[in-house]
Amino acid sequence: VKPESLSLCPLGTAAAPEPELLCIFGTGDLGRSLGLRLLQAGYRVVYGSRRPHSCGPLPQGAQVMSHVAAAQSAPLVLMCIQRDHYDFLETLAPQLKGKVLVDVSNNIKKNMYPEANAEYLQRLIPAAKVVKAFNTLSAWALQNGPSDANRQVFLCGDSKEAKQAVADMATKLGFTVLDRGSLSVARELEDFPLQLFPEWRLPLRVAVGLTAFFFFYVVLRDVIYAYVVQGKDISFRIMVSLANKVFPIVSLIMLALCYLPGVVAAFFQLYRGTKYKRFPNWLDRWMLCRKQLGLLALGFAFLHVMYTLIIPIRYYVRYRIAARTISDIRENRTSEFDSTSAWRTDSYYSVGILGFATYLLLGITSLPSVSNALSWREFNFIQSKLGYLTLLLCTLHTYLYGWNRFLYPSSYKWYTPSAYQLCLVLPSAVLVLKLLLLLPWVDRSLTRIRQGWERKTDP
Ligand code: HEM
Repeated sequence: VKPESLSLCPLGTAAAPEPELLCIFGTGDLGRSLGLRLLQAGYRVVYGSRRPHSCGPLPQGAQVMSHVAAAQSAPLVLMCIQRDHYDFLETLAPQLKGKVLVDVSNNIKKNMYPEANAEYLQRLIPAAKVVKAFNTLSAWALQNGPSDANRQVFLCGDSKEAKQAVADMATKLGFTVLDRGSLSVARELEDFPLQLFPEWRLPLRVAVGLTAFFFFYVVLRDVIYAYVVQGKDISFRIMVSLANKVFPIVSLIMLALCYLPGVVAAFFQLYRGTKYKRFPNWLDRWMLCRKQLGLLALGFAFLHVMYTLIIPIRYYVRYRIAARTISDIRENRTSEFDSTSAWRTDSYYSVGILGFATYLLLGITSLPSVSNALSWREFNFIQSKLGYLTLLLCTLHTYLYGWNRFLYPSSYKWYTPSAYQLCLVLPSAVLVLKLLLLLPWVDRSLTRIRQGWERKTDP
């Protein structure tokens, strides 16, 4: 058998194809960062500038030319200039004809102009193929390359080939491309960077609303009640005692709100007998912000733990213990050891600690760097099974803390239930609903539906 012949020609000496040349208009922060990344990714870069000879420092290896010459030299032009300066581009219409123009611009306010910047660019140069892209990334993210949080590049445009060319380039730079559709979506993309933490907005509102409600509720029931009914000023308790009621209460309710939509969705599927019908919009939105709800809830639980840690060093607590001891000595009184109290307090501390530990595990596994290392099954197992366990432990901790106090009429000040009793309603409901879903025949139906089975409906 004839041995396979080997070429001894060293790699790279054959005529390697010349790297692709891309053009950037604009030598500001964004233009320079983008140019640097492109050069690092193996492209050649030419800048188009009004003053090619005095345009400040540019990445090493890039060329600078006049706008006309630069536009003529490359098939793709990245527009790193402000929309207010677009009008001069009209004079370049002949050179830009048929070229892919990437609009990376943003505005400082919503609705500043009647049309999106990218659509305006397309109107100025109708013979070019405009693609909106990269505008959701900062110059910093472009220069440093994609990180976990900054991996996505949204793009939109009317020309399929132009979008493909931009997508290829973004992929080569290490980004994940998400095609959002035609150029009419450009306005939505331009509004993206103007939104502050969009997916956190709803959870933050829920957290602020619950905190405000429960704060006023406990101030009313504790501080104002003591002042009006007993003539005592205990307003100092707002700082620690009341804060340490409000934070865990908000945390527990938000944890329940994290798992409620999943249970509601399961009941929707059971009721409809299919998984192929869309959930109502409110449920979709709610499901999408579960991670943020959970992380905020963890933050509140953390505050509760910190406030609990300082209980023994509080002046008020030390004073009460000392006063009680002195009065016991003076009156020659011995207080009996109450085994039930010991059991009760130790149990709720212990269950609280276990609940906090699983809570932390939930929070850690929701971080992208950790969840990326888990398989879907592992992630699902932790977030679902461990999630319900956390909810169960924290709810149990609160029940044990309350113990039999719900039997005492004195705990219903002004005929209102204690705040912790109120906060138990939602987590208890979620746990009961989840328990119903775990009943064997319900679980079987749900599993079949989730595997694609559909209940036959009459035509
Ligand atoms: C109450 C300890 C974790 C929810 C309490 C109290 C203590 C305590 C000492 C009574 C506070 C007071 O008398 O003012 C702990 C410890 C924890 C822990 C040591 C873990 C290290 C949690 C977690 C949750 C939670 C993870 C769930 C969100 C509650 C609730 C109350 C409470 C709702 C009742 C608040 C009230 O109305 O006074 N906990 N806890 N705890 N805890 Fe925890």
